[in-house]
Amino acid sequence: MSISVEDIKRIIIEAGQKAALDTGNEPEPHMTTPAKWPLECTVGPGLEGAIACESKVGYVNGAKGWLVYRGYDIFELAAHATYEETAFLLLHGRLPKERELKKLKRKLASYGKVSATLRVLMGFPVEKMNPMAALRLGTNLMRQEFTFCDIDLDESDERRRKKTVEDDYIAMDDDSIAMETVPKGETKATYEFHQAVKVDDSYGGNELYDADGIEACYHVIAALPTIAAAISRVRRGLMPIDPDPHLSVAANFLYMLTGYRPSPVEEKIMDVSLILHADHGMNASTFACMVVASTLSDIYFSIGSGIAALNGPLHGGANEQVLKMLEKIRSHGDVGDWLDEKLMNNEKIMGFGHRVYKAYDPRARVLEPLAELLTENHEDGKSLLRIAKRLESEMIDRVGKSKGIFPNVDFYSGIVYTSLGIPSDMFTSVFAVGRVSGWTARVLEYLNKNRIFRPRAIYTGDFNKKYVPIEERHRDSIPG
Ligand SMILES: CC(C)(COP(=O)(O)OP(=O)(O)OC[C@H]1O[C@@H](n2cnc3c(N)ncnc32)[C@H](O)[C@@H]1OP(=O)(O)O)[C@@H](O)C(=O)NCCC(=O)NCCS
Repeated sequence: MSISVEDIKRIIIEAGQKAALDTGNEPEPHMTTPAKWPLECTVGPGLEGAIACESKVGYVNGAKGWLVYRGYDIFELAAHATYEETAFLLLHGRLPKERELKKLKRKLASYGKVSATLRVLMGFPVEKMNPMAALRLGTNLMRQEFTFCDIDLDESDERRRKKTVEDDYIAMDDDSIAMETVPKGETKATYEFHQAVKVDDSYGGNELYDADGIEACYHVIAALPTIAAAISRVRRGLMPIDPDPHLSVAANFLYMLTGYRPSPVEEKIMDVSLILHADHGMNASTFACMVVASTLSDIYFSIGSGIAALNGPLHGGANEQVLKMLEKIRSHGDVGDWLDEKLMNNEKIMGFGHRVYKAYDPRARVLEPLAELLTENHEDGKSLLRIAKRLESEMIDRVGKSKGIFPNVDFYSGIVYTSLGIPSDMFTSVFAVGRVSGWTARVLEYLNKNRIFRPRAIYTGDFNKKYVPIEERHRDSIPG
């Protein structure tokens, strides 16, 4: 690839300038002020329109196509920041100073090794599990490995203080590998199951054991890429790879997935993808995390519920469907004919439309030129991208302007991920690896003024029914 990281920055800045031109006529958002609770608002089914809390973490404006993290426009962050800086920004409300960023990187490198968690996880039939189910399970196992949550509460404080991560609670027998199926085909596996996490002492004794504070947030942000990559490799019959502490989160994730160290350009594109997915308002998975955290459950449980919510096809995963759709269009042959037929049957076209954006999704504006760069020398990717761009222009002509249906984040991300060597069954996990920084930031923020979530339902059932003994229930009222 003859392009550089600087070229990618320039491309993103240009995409931002185009976005500003396209939506310049839309009104600027109102300045926000603290709410005077209780609020009056119109609420639809599924809490649509309901305001659950105040937040300074992020902002989405569907009419202007704006996505803002802590006051910074997404184009600005994608061009100039790294995922690590973005995670710090989301969690702490400001960009890190040089020393803080170094410390964060050391911490993430340290927490990214979750050897005992992986060893136990590999005892499950991971190769047969939905990757998101395995990722959720891994998050729960991390909770066991790194926290004191489930130990005997009588244990003395002194013993708690002395305990090291190497003494984790998951049985660790260095001579055995708890695997049902030994992965096949690996020739240069570097992963060692007995390698335990080294906690950097400079961060102060027991921080890691705190299951509902900032350390647990760093912990899940660092470890999710390791777990997701290990799951992917085992599914392909390969051995998991240990993270390289000298690599960034993005480079490490690609390295652990593919087995090779990415080029600076590949690393930057992965980094940008993680930044673009890091936060997106009160979406279903973020809300799921917040609901669980509001019960004063802990970060690990909370993130596990976010992973579960993201797994649903209405939330994560449309990008995998987009790739399948583009393949189908390729074999059909004619984009226009194919689209006419789908629209006539009122079918939704994958990768288009959004509950919030009625303008072009800013994330798609960034991913489209990156897909172009990555497919430059790949005939297959290039041909899919050609179809995608044709489909985009046909969609915009037919329904784009009239209904506000434009490409969303999922439309080009599948092509980007495939070009980076990521298998399509891992696309939703990649989403989770990026989104975990937003999940944790919003959970921590909410816990500052926590109130357990408790909406109501309108009861539409009966009253005053009398219990009928089973032998008197003659009519079979349940169909089937
Ligand atoms: C994301 C999505 C669920 C948003 O739905 P929504 O906000 O409820 O939008 P609506 O269903 O109200 O759609 C409004 C109109 O646009 C049409 N529309 C919305 N998305 C469409 C799509 N992808 N293809 C074709 N038409 C679409 C609807 O049919 C509807 O038309 P109508 O007014 O004539 O009935 C929807 O756009 C969709 O299913 N997209 C495809 C899946 C996808 O890409 N998901 C990833 C989202 S990030």
